[in-house]
Amino acid sequence: MPGSTSPGTIRNPDGWWRGASIYQVYLRSFADGNGDGTGDLAGLRARLPYLSELGVDAIWLNPWYPSPMADGGYDVADYRNIEPVFGTLAEAEKLIEEAHDLGIRTIVDVVPNHGSDQMVWFQEALEAGPGSEARERFWFRPGNGDGPPNGWKSIFGGPAWTQVPDGEWYLHLFAPEQPDFNWNNPAVREEFLDVLRFWFDRGVDGIRIDSAAVLVKDLDSVEESYTDHDGVHEIYREWRRIADDYGQRVLIGEVWLPDQERFALYLRPDEMHTAFNFAFLASPWEPDALRDVIDMTLATHVPIGAPATWVLSNHDVTRPATRFGRADTSFDHGDRKHGMPSDFELGTRRARAAALLAMALPGSVYVYQGEELGLWEVEDIPDDLREDPIWARSGHTDPGRDGCRVPLPWSGGEPPFGFSTGVPWLPQPAGWSTMTVEDQLADPESMLSLYRAALGIRRERLGDGVMAWLPLGDGVLAFTRDSGLICVVNLGSQPVRLPPHESILLTSGPLDGDLLPTDTTAWLSS
Ligand code: GLC
Repeated sequence: MPGSTSPGTIRNPDGWWRGASIYQVYLRSFADGNGDGTGDLAGLRARLPYLSELGVDAIWLNPWYPSPMADGGYDVADYRNIEPVFGTLAEAEKLIEEAHDLGIRTIVDVVPNHGSDQMVWFQEALEAGPGSEARERFWFRPGNGDGPPNGWKSIFGGPAWTQVPDGEWYLHLFAPEQPDFNWNNPAVREEFLDVLRFWFDRGVDGIRIDSAAVLVKDLDSVEESYTDHDGVHEIYREWRRIADDYGQRVLIGEVWLPDQERFALYLRPDEMHTAFNFAFLASPWEPDALRDVIDMTLATHVPIGAPATWVLSNHDVTRPATRFGRADTSFDHGDRKHGMPSDFELGTRRARAAALLAMALPGSVYVYQGEELGLWEVEDIPDDLREDPIWARSGHTDPGRDGCRVPLPWSGGEPPFGFSTGVPWLPQPAGWSTMTVEDQLADPESMLSLYRAALGIRRERLGDGVMAWLPLGDGVLAFTRDSGLICVVNLGSQPVRLPPHESILLTSGPLDGDLLPTDTTAWLSS
């Protein structure tokens, strides 16, 4: 049967990603198998049945390579191995195989913009000195007088240049421990093509491309000039040729670009297959804004035949249950609204409604670990335990992203909630005692039960395809899907009457008779 839905079956072998539900595993915080307080491959492998029962088609793992962890693993020291704290390459291969046995595909994160200052290439570059071939793999430059070559700033705060003892400076768009590669150098291009082959040979089904739009730079520009240069597309065309050689492998771009025309260029038929929808992720919980972003997304994707993606959270952004409970519900990297009061009950109601909206839209959907538990952003991590480099580099003004990276609560009434037998690398709030997986599995009204039910229905009748708006008035987002499912989201202030339907499949919260309350979504069968 096409699109068979029994667990253990790989669905939609052609363009499997087009309607997939993809679960993001932040390995450090998922499950710890050896008691050292950091999540690892043993922990993940033991919990694969959880993901299978949740009903996801694929997992995307954040970087799992050897790394000094200056930026949570996005400072990669060796692209062809596994961080020892996480496990071994043999275990990674087993994970890929065991996941496949459960019908789950594996996507790995490749970081092409920068490596780690501890990687062999960078150490060679330091050693070899100015003018050497080894330095040509990075951006080394003499200073401008006593200062750096130009005034570019790091995305994490502070200057984008660091000086080495012989006087030259090297560029790092992120932390100093993350030197940027020089993509004009053919050796860099070859290296990454080989890295892709390395992981495809090990059975991975896709690559998430980190910071995908900033690889090409114009250092002569006084202004920062690295975002979205035309030259970046040739790189992804080469990557696509490799992916196509293997077949059924997906390239997913992390492309933060407000300009939809420029964004669409990355999704041309010979480049990436899909990219994260950050416009949707950043949208405030307001009907007009959401409707516009949905229309804009489809207008961008449909003509070029690329599947849209729907993303509510990831390891870089504020947890939805917190964000949606604030007076300002939008997300902005530049202003993370730390400490802005949040009504968690309201935020949770909206996060539930938003989940059903995201999962009903045509395309693929991403679920970041803990989103399915409705976890809140942990804002009271003690300062001395904060690890995100944004915290130090902002001069301790921006606490950064640790608050959405706290280890998951699995079971029990107190930390470490079954995450580990040791001390978790970031402390978990005692208040998560009612939010554990164990607790939520026993409660049909829980966020986890909602996600499981929704992902199950999605498998049967949602995913890739088309939608059409149903006009139900201001404040209401309603649309039909090709499978006959109707999704109605009430973002207005008054309860609304449901449109004619045959049955109610799922709601994000209780109905009020046959009225749909504010901040509630219903899935109906027509
Ligand atoms: C991406 C990652 C983020 C990381 C940055 C630098 O934005 O998602 O976590 O810090 O790239 O690699």
